[in-house]
Amino acid sequence: MDTPAEVAKKAAGKPKRVPQLLRGMKDTLPEEQRYWTFVRQRVEAMAELYSYSQIATPLLEETSLFVRSIGKETDVIEKEIYSFEDKGGDSVALRPEGTAGVVRAYIEHGMLTRPQPVKLFYIGPFFRYDRPQAGRYRQFHQFGFEAIGDAHPVLDAQLMLLVYQFHAELGLPVTLQVNSIGTPQAREGYRKALLDYYRTRKNALCEDCRLRLQRNPLRLLDCKQPDCQLLAQEAPQIIDFLDEASNKHFVQVLEHLDSMEVPYVLNPRLVRGLDYYTGTVFEVWPEERPAELVEPLPEGAPPAEPPVKPGAQSALGGGGRYDLLVESLGGQPTPAIGFAIGIERLILELKFRDTKVGQEPTPDIFVAQLGDAGRKKALRFFEELRRGGFRVTEAFSKDGIKAQMELANRRKVKFTLIIGQKEIMDDTILIRDMESGIQETVDYQKAIPELQKRLLKYGVVEKNGNGGQHLPLPTA
Ligand code: HAM
Repeated sequence: MDTPAEVAKKAAGKPKRVPQLLRGMKDTLPEEQRYWTFVRQRVEAMAELYSYSQIATPLLEETSLFVRSIGKETDVIEKEIYSFEDKGGDSVALRPEGTAGVVRAYIEHGMLTRPQPVKLFYIGPFFRYDRPQAGRYRQFHQFGFEAIGDAHPVLDAQLMLLVYQFHAELGLPVTLQVNSIGTPQAREGYRKALLDYYRTRKNALCEDCRLRLQRNPLRLLDCKQPDCQLLAQEAPQIIDFLDEASNKHFVQVLEHLDSMEVPYVLNPRLVRGLDYYTGTVFEVWPEERPAELVEPLPEGAPPAEPPVKPGAQSALGGGGRYDLLVESLGGQPTPAIGFAIGIERLILELKFRDTKVGQEPTPDIFVAQLGDAGRKKALRFFEELRRGGFRVTEAFSKDGIKAQMELANRRKVKFTLIIGQKEIMDDTILIRDMESGIQETVDYQKAIPELQKRLLKYGVVEKNGNGGQHLPLPTA
């Protein structure tokens, strides 16, 4: 790997290459932002209703935090984690998921002394060196909810209800896939049974699964290759290996789900890909969609393997209990449960379902100017309008009125205000109604009440209306 100095040296004297987006990364352009704003608002509203407080943990953490929580024999740690040595020689990693950091923060900030469960949510970027394909990036975003410090099964059910409601209220048809993977001891028994089952069927497995067989046989169950899926269907099921306590807990979770009429599918092959889970696990699957509506691959991405099939869209999100994680990271024994949803995948679904996500607010007024004195006064007036709660826009660097009118048209404002030399001399302002094209000169001192009156016709009431007074501004 080249150091920045070596990169600079190699680039010196060469024709300049336009820097390019890294593979698996994505720019979110202004026209996309309304989806992100929409999701963020929905997540925050839901968090408030269910009393989850926001937490933000760093993007960079000790590599060992992730290895110890996610497990060293998982795809995330073996293949996907971005870890490197920092300048102090420490091994650090870009966070591939959110639970580990939140648990670290819970322990480090002594949150055990707060009323339990501590309910936290987060929203932000995560990083996995994954193979890019539709809905899969190397930098992606999740929102996650974690309830730490309570083992009651009602918590599991309520969190699943929350996830289900969140999607239902967005008009997104999803199914909740539910399973229990019990304690590590139960899983050990199950692991042995799986090894026995696959021993004689090894040759039918894909190459990856043959490796998984040695390292993490539970992962064989969610391989997407058709042959492996066939074998998985006949494989022993974890539910038959559960200890009594896990069994009882799971039955209670399902009873709560039934009583709240949350639809779910029992999925005995659902094992999740992170080692910290114990007991209840679940995933949110989108309803199948036709092939032509599967998003095209990111530019420059190689063909997806296995190919993206209709309906083969992966989970929107998932989660489960991680009752042993706090303790295994050095905290007190503390049960916990959580989930995370991938925002890129959620937005794909919103687009596919044509969900109305609202427009970014558009300006109502364009402030146009002519000449130096006009520009100065317009700059000031713009500021007054903005502080008065009007939605305004401008193009102060433009000289010609034609260019400014074109912009005003393009931004679809309702009125354009023009301050030119004549208006400066008369202390007036020209108001142009963009729909009718009618222009009217009004006294500058009366401009604000005039605008309020006219905007009212369009149903616009400025947010912090100041009673039509010019606001005090420092003099120019
Ligand atoms: P996860 O299943 O690894 O769980 O990720 C949750 C969701 O993040 C996935 O279902 C997917 O929507 C999204 N996601 C994952 N990788 C990518 C990617 N490369 N590109 C786009 N989206 C992606 C967790 O991360 C757990 N921390 C969830 C959890 C919270 N469990 C308990 N608390």
